[in-house]
Amino acid sequence: MVPSSSSILSILLVLLLSPFIVSHALQDRFLKCLSRTSESSFPFSTVLYTPKNSSFSSVLQYSAQNLRFTLPSVPKPEFIFTPLQESHIQAVVICSKQLGIHLRVRSGGHDFEGLSYVSEIESPFIVVDLVKLRSISVDIEHNSAWVQTGATNGEFYYRISEKSNTHGFPADEDLFIRVQIRTANVSRQGRRTITTSYNAMFLGDANRLLQVMKHSFPELGLTRQDCIETNWINSTVYMSGFANNTPPEVLLQRINMDRAYFKGKSDYARKPIPEKALEGLWEKLFEAESPLVVFTPYGGMMNRISESQTPFPHRKGTKFMILYWSSWQDATENVAEHINWTRRVYSYMTPYVSKNPREAYANYRDLDLGMNRNSNASLVEASAFGTNYFKGNLYRLVHVKTKVDPDNFFRHEQSIPPLPLHMR
Ligand SMILES: Cc1cc2nc3c(=O)[nH]c(=O)nc-3n(C[C@H](O)[C@H](O)[C@H](O)COP(=O)(O)OP(=O)(O)OC[C@H]3O[C@@H](n4cnc5c(N)ncnc54)[C@H](O)[C@@H]3O)c2cc1C
Ligand SMILES: *[C@@H]1O[C@H](CO)[C@@H](O)[C@H](O)[C@H]1NC(C)=O
Ligand SMILES: *[C@@H]1O[C@H](CO)[C@@H](O)[C@H](O)[C@H]1NC(C)=O
Ligand SMILES: *[C@@H]1O[C@H](CO)[C@@H](O)[C@H](O)[C@H]1NC(C)=O
Ligand SMILES: *[C@@H]1O[C@H](CO)[C@@H](O)[C@H](O)[C@H]1NC(C)=O
Ligand SMILES: *[C@@H]1O[C@H](CO)[C@@H](O)[C@H](O)[C@H]1NC(C)=O
Repeated sequence: MVPSSSSILSILLVLLLSPFIVSHALQDRFLKCLSRTSESSFPFSTVLYTPKNSSFSSVLQYSAQNLRFTLPSVPKPEFIFTPLQESHIQAVVICSKQLGIHLRVRSGGHDFEGLSYVSEIESPFIVVDLVKLRSISVDIEHNSAWVQTGATNGEFYYRISEKSNTHGFPADEDLFIRVQIRTANVSRQGRRTITTSYNAMFLGDANRLLQVMKHSFPELGLTRQDCIETNWINSTVYMSGFANNTPPEVLLQRINMDRAYFKGKSDYARKPIPEKALEGLWEKLFEAESPLVVFTPYGGMMNRISESQTPFPHRKGTKFMILYWSSWQDATENVAEHINWTRRVYSYMTPYVSKNPREAYANYRDLDLGMNRNSNASLVEASAFGTNYFKGNLYRLVHVKTKVDPDNFFRHEQSIPPLPLHMR
């Protein structure tokens, strides 16, 4: 039988329309559930953004650092929910459980792989963004502060500085200095060289810093003219990359300075890297359009804390962390090559960094290290990235997870799985 063109058309129409019907029904069911679940009669539709709301895209993209995960081809949530009260969070969790719809919790600054607002493994999904829960109360007398999750570091720093000229958070011990390695043009013909810049913060005056530098880093030749003496809040404005003399109120505007299309990976070094290896690294940098390698020192106070004392293991014995980063301007041009560069430089560095496991920084998420394939996260799969990020602490984290979230409700591509049923 040859189907008539009108029946083909109606099948097509049904196929085209069905996603809208499905999501519309889902929102309705969700809104009904929210009202049923909460005691007050709160108008939940005012905190729920669907793709039909004109501000949906801006709310979705607002805290996305990696623009790769904002492209149209990337899966989008059915809606974004922005609670105004703690009870709203409880309601959304209960309803997503009841309706069996996957939930992602929005993250702030670090989220290299967009896991907090994109699900590649489960569909449909929704996003809960606590951006409106951002109250900050600073108690100088007791040296404490309460900060809600949606606040940024900048807002928090600003509120401390409003109350005190002598308090700060977090306070590095003495000198913090890290090195950023890039390439720069030396001629119009495009000949390039390697540049290193030293981003530093010192808690003390310029005279004492000059003494410290003369003793520890004489090769850098620091002079008085290189130093800016300022208060703590202005130093955070400077460290964020804003122009000199930008008023600290800029921190309240939640401006995102690091947005780019990028691929990043991390390493930890437990011993110095030989000069010869660094020369090879410079060669690698010339192969990328816009490469960045950052060495962030650990040591100091971190060196006095054992690996197993907190979940974050990269402390005692760690010399520094390395970030490999390749970023690009054009959303679609040579993307595979840019990503390939980051992987190549990581591969080149293998002999010079930590091994068994090769440690990685959990905040610089990297799906190359492995991922959970679906809601039934497997301990075997998670052991790959899990030991990179947490070393031996992974198994203690798995036990905690099994206690507090045995059904693995809160999950993403690299979340910690609970123990499988037969092992409990
Ligand atoms: C490439 C790169 C390198 C960077 N390097 C540095 C660096 O070396 N030093 C530095 O100080 N900063 C650095 N930053 C900036 C840093 O990412 C942010 O300053 C910092 O992560 C912001 O803190 P946060 O509290 O939002 O952190 P996050 O780690 O993003 O969030 C903290 C926790 O709160 C949760 N959360 C956050 N926001 C929400 C929300 N809206 N809703 C629900 N839950 C939420 C998260 O899920 C997480 O559990 C870098 C950023 C990038 C992109
Ligand atoms: C989204 O649009 C719906 C329908 O117009 C509206 O009722 C709702 O208040 C809007 N949501 C937000 C957060 O503005
Ligand atoms: C460096 O030179 C290349 C080739 O001439 C050019 O495309 C690029 O824009 C230059 N970069 C900078 C930062 O000037
Ligand atoms: C901090 O920056 C503001 C704005 O540029 C400036 O007015 C103020 O003097 C600075 N404070 C210090 C201690 O440098
Ligand atoms: C980079 O790309 C080349 C050529 O396509 C490929 O052979 C190589 O395996 C890739 N390297 C990595 C580390 O992915
Ligand atoms: C997860 O495991 C359960 C129980 O073994 C099974 O019923 C379900 O189909 C699995 N889900 C997926 C997505 O594999």
